Amino acid sequence: MNGFNCDPVPTLHTERLILRQLKDQDLQPIFELRSNPKVNEYLGRDRSLSIEDTKEHIRTLQKGFQNNEIALWIMTKPIDDVMIGSVVMFQYQQENNSAEIGFEMKPEFWGNGFTSEAVYKVIEYCKTQIQLDSLRAVVQNGNEASLKIIKKAGFEKHEKLEEDLFEYILHLKNFKYAL
Ligand SMILES: CC(C)(COP(=O)(O)OP(=O)(O)OC[C@H]1O[C@@H](n2cnc3c(N)ncnc32)[C@H](O)[C@@H]1OP(=O)(O)O)[C@@H](O)C(=O)NCCC(=O)NCCS
Repeated sequence: MNGFNCDPVPTLHTERLILRQLKDQDLQPIFELRSNPKVNEYLGRDRSLSIEDTKEHIRTLQKGFQNNEIALWIMTKPIDDVMIGSVVMFQYQQENNSAEIGFEMKPEFWGNGFTSEAVYKVIEYCKTQIQLDSLRAVVQNGNEASLKIIKKAGFEKHEKLEEDLFEYILHLKNFKYAL
């Protein structure tokens, strides 16, 4: 047991979104996200340069799902089921019953509150269903939208990891679902 039993993840509903498991049709939107310099600006990851890179990334994700190491929710709008972003949980730490959370959204949808809505729902799920004790988020200074989301949820700065890169922690007993 590495942390989650989330293969497949359960479908979660928010006011405006459906959060569902990964499907084959998500390949192109995932490529668009991973190849977009604006999305990658604060993420410190290699940009996908081809659909092949993205397929390799998806294979890694699928291994993570099978091993209960990664849980991924695809954000979609109910009207068309097209991926607009994602929320992921990974890096489970048994010693403190904690996982890291990450999220990304296609730039054309930024600023509508969609990610906040989805992240809060996943946090609530982690608290009530997976019964984690805490969540971690690693955020770079300057990533203002991301910092707003985690601070509103109650994450607090915990540790400096690198110049300008910090780990934040949310103790889930303190989390109350409210937007
Ligand atoms: C972080 C990210 C997912 C936010 O997505 P989003 O759907 O725009 O988020 P929301 O609309 O819920 O906005 C959250 C808050 O940030 C604010 N915000 C959105 N874009 C912003 C920007 N470019 N600069 C400053 N604040 C911004 C919103 O106004 C909102 O503030 P409020 O709660 O006070 O109203 C998106 O910017 C993104 O994909 N960034 C690249 C990937 C990334 O950095 N992920 C986080 C890794 S930890």
